[in-house]
Amino acid sequence: MAKNLRNIVIIVFLCLLAASASIFADEFTEDDLEKWNKEFTTVVNQGEALFHSNKLGSNTVSCDMCHPNATNTHPETYPKFQKQMGKVVALRDMINWCIQNPLEGEPLKLDDPKMIALEAYITYERTGKPLAPGKH
Ligand code: HEC
Repeated sequence: MAKNLRNIVIIVFLCLLAASASIFADEFTEDDLEKWNKEFTTVVNQGEALFHSNKLGSNTVSCDMCHPNATNTHPETYPKFQKQMGKVVALRDMINWCIQNPLEGEPLKLDDPKMIALEAYITYERTGKPLAPGKH
């Protein structure tokens, strides 16, 4: 009986140890945070540069001509139905639509670092807007 009790105590202890290890598995330090924020800011800045660049398309038009400071890009409303494409699309699809139409350029691959940078910049500019997927 005493031996059983001891085994149970050991098992409970091991379970708690396993649980606490998984809780702390995601722990990060101030140094990590600083590093991640730096990486994020770098990508946002790359996106901002692309957004103001006249080299993304073929006709020297840049995104900021129609969307200064990413206005009217409404990233918080995606995914949503877009009549240009006749279906529910993601923000990146609309970025490509503008690259292909107003900018007369080649669409970016959806995982192209330039696409991710544009998305990061546009979304960052709208920080604090409540999510409203599907909204028009
Ligand atoms: C000549 C003007 C013009 C330029 C330049 C332009 N856009 Fe647009 N953009 C539009 C129009 C028009 C729409 C369509 C609005 C709609 O249907 O919601 C649009 C829509 C968008 C949307 C979706 C907005 C929404 O409310 O859902 C995004 C995102 C966007 N543009 C990003 C970009 C990016 C990124 C660039 C540069 C690669 C760019 N645009 C360049 C005119 C422009």
